[in-house]
Amino acid sequence: MMQVVRFVAAIFLIVPTLCVLPDDDNSCHHICFHQPQEACPPLNHTCRCQQLPNCRRAAICCNVNKFTLNEGLACGNIGSDGQVEALHIRNATLEVLNLSQPVWRRLKRLRYMTISDGQIGEVAGEFARHASVSCLNLSSNSISKFEERSLVNLYNLSFLDLSNNNLSAIPRFRMEGNVTLDVSDNGQMACSNLKSALRPEVSFVNENQTFCETSKDFEWFQSTEKLPLSQVIADHELQKNCYHNCTCKTYRLNLVPGKLPSFEVEMNCSGKQFQFLPVPLPDNTISLDVSGNNITSIKELSEPSYQNLRHFYADNNQISSIQPLEGTKFIGNFDTLSLRNNKIKMLETYLLDNIQFERNFNQRKVNLGMNSLVCDCNTMKLKVWLLSKLSHIPDHDQIQCENMNSKVTELDASKLCQSPQDWTDYIYYIITGEVLLLVSLIAKVSYDYWVFKTAGYLPWPASKMPRLPCDWLCE
Ligand SMILES: *[C@@H]1O[C@H](CO)[C@@H](O)[C@H](O)[C@H]1NC(C)=O
Ligand SMILES: *[C@@H]1O[C@H](CO)[C@@H](O)[C@H](O)[C@H]1NC(C)=O
Ligand SMILES: *[C@@H]1O[C@H](CO)[C@@H](O)[C@H](O)[C@H]1NC(C)=O
Ligand SMILES: *[C@@H]1O[C@H](CO)[C@@H](O)[C@H](O)[C@H]1NC(C)=O
Ligand SMILES: *[C@@H]1O[C@H](CO)[C@@H](O)[C@H](O)[C@H]1NC(C)=O
Ligand SMILES: *[C@@H]1O[C@H](CO)[C@@H](O)[C@H](O)[C@H]1NC(C)=O
Ligand SMILES: *[C@@H]1O[C@H](CO)[C@@H](O)[C@H](O)[C@H]1NC(C)=O
Ligand SMILES: *[C@@H]1O[C@H](CO)[C@@H](O)[C@H](O)[C@H]1NC(C)=O
Ligand SMILES: *[C@@H]1O[C@H](CO)[C@@H](O)[C@H](O)[C@H]1NC(C)=O
Ligand SMILES: *[C@@H]1O[C@H](CO)[C@@H](O)[C@H](O)[C@H]1NC(C)=O
Ligand SMILES: *[C@@H]1O[C@H](CO)[C@@H](O)[C@H](O)[C@H]1NC(C)=O
Repeated sequence: MMQVVRFVAAIFLIVPTLCVLPDDDNSCHHICFHQPQEACPPLNHTCRCQQLPNCRRAAICCNVNKFTLNEGLACGNIGSDGQVEALHIRNATLEVLNLSQPVWRRLKRLRYMTISDGQIGEVAGEFARHASVSCLNLSSNSISKFEERSLVNLYNLSFLDLSNNNLSAIPRFRMEGNVTLDVSDNGQMACSNLKSALRPEVSFVNENQTFCETSKDFEWFQSTEKLPLSQVIADHELQKNCYHNCTCKTYRLNLVPGKLPSFEVEMNCSGKQFQFLPVPLPDNTISLDVSGNNITSIKELSEPSYQNLRHFYADNNQISSIQPLEGTKFIGNFDTLSLRNNKIKMLETYLLDNIQFERNFNQRKVNLGMNSLVCDCNTMKLKVWLLSKLSHIPDHDQIQCENMNSKVTELDASKLCQSPQDWTDYIYYIITGEVLLLVSLIAKVSYDYWVFKTAGYLPWPASKMPRLPCDWLCE
């Protein structure tokens, strides 16, 4: 990448300083040859082409059509000896640029060929065998089509600029060495065609201006969207960047208004004898399948690379607790949470209660079947939770109790919660007994007082009680 940036920077730095030193090839063309409009022959000039006074074997033609181009090359003395090495043709209006025609065959030494800022319908014919062109710039011509073999004979091609045209496909070209390719600003480029140009020998420039049209032929697209090159590359390199031993696939294209479209990734690591959840996940992973491993904990769900995850399948593992779910982004975002056939002993209802199922989360599914819980009276809360979310928990009737032969959804509160209820009953009995005792004590004291007042003696047992020092107060 650094190399490409430096390369592009070099071009932009060097191009404007062209033609400063006379008779020095390298001052006029470094990698490519490009002249500004000011270098054109003056308008009152009869010949449309001229050799450049400051550059050896370099020429420019401007504002030409099929006829004036041939004339210009002749009157500018350009084609005749075949010595010209660099040629820039600006503003050519051609229905067909036919590379098989003799005029091009004569330019045997041509190494830098630029035809830009014109109107060219299509490119036909082909370069002569072993033509020496190393930079071909056909930018900004509205070209919509290349003939199949047009560029295949360019053995020395190292820079191909086809930017700002109307191409839907990249023409075949030779990749003997490394080729730098610019296909930015081609509104009709099909993603499948762009993808087929992704090879180690090809490096792209102006990536940020390079887009393609998703279309029916590109995997599963229904609609037409503009996809940035970076995403086509991400899709292409998906498997390479996948977690070791797992399979990565594009899940779908994420389209958020105002943002560039991006791919969502699905990673499958089922049956790999993993003991831990894979970290990190590839960018934009929204689905992870780790079923059939030996995973014991899901604590990695809080890792940053898990932030986009919405489908998590971890059936048939050794996971013992759902507590690590607490506070994760996942529990707020997910669509699927599947933990069937694990070693979960307890499902904390305070945690499950945090899961929303309304509105945006209609589709939410939670699978917890084939786990054997330790059931007690508290499990009744879980039963209530399960029964209120039946449609979201398809396997609700497969959650078993380990310590009794019952499904959680069929637990009987009157049996399971017996002892604690007895205990609360006792409390009531004791309180009732105490209240009764108090009432009878007050009644007895009142009776004793009444008897004492009316009959003048104290009934039993008050009469038998020893006198207390304070009794004289009453008398
Ligand atoms: C073309 O016009 C320029 C001034 O714009 C003048 O100096 C030059 O002599 C003209 N050349 C011809 C061939 O008329
Ligand atoms: C391009 O060339 C045509 C003649 O072929 C001319 O009429 C037109 O003005 C030129 N355009 C520019 C931008 O120079
Ligand atoms: C291109 O030129 C070659 C040779 O002159 C000719 O055979 C061929 O038909 C031309 N192709 C087009 C599309 O004009
Ligand atoms: C290709 O380029 C190399 C050096 O860059 C040169 O030696 C060779 O002759 C060129 N081949 C052709 C066919 O021009
Ligand atoms: C090719 O031509 C276009 C249009 O004139 C120009 O913008 C671009 O810089 C040229 N590319 C190179 C590599 O010189
Ligand atoms: C580009 O090509 C499409 C057909 O492939 C055509 O409809 C459109 O007019 C062309 N655009 C330009 C600017 O030439
Ligand atoms: C192409 O570039 C890569 C590095 O980007 C380099 O390793 C390789 O040798 C190059 N191949 C040629 C033929 O220059
Ligand atoms: C391309 O876009 C990315 C992200 O939008 C940015 O980081 C990068 O610097 C851009 N590259 C260029 C060459 O502008
Ligand atoms: C990937 O699988 C191979 C063979 O099954 C195994 O030897 C290797 O340890 C696995 N790598 C990881 C990271 O699990
Ligand atoms: C993962 O791969 C397994 C085996 O290839 C397959 O049965 C399973 O359906 C895949 N998971 C997903 C979510 O597609
Ligand atoms: C993973 O689990 C399988 C079956 O439960 C067992 O046979 C295997 O030994 C375990 N592997 C590891 C590395 O724990």
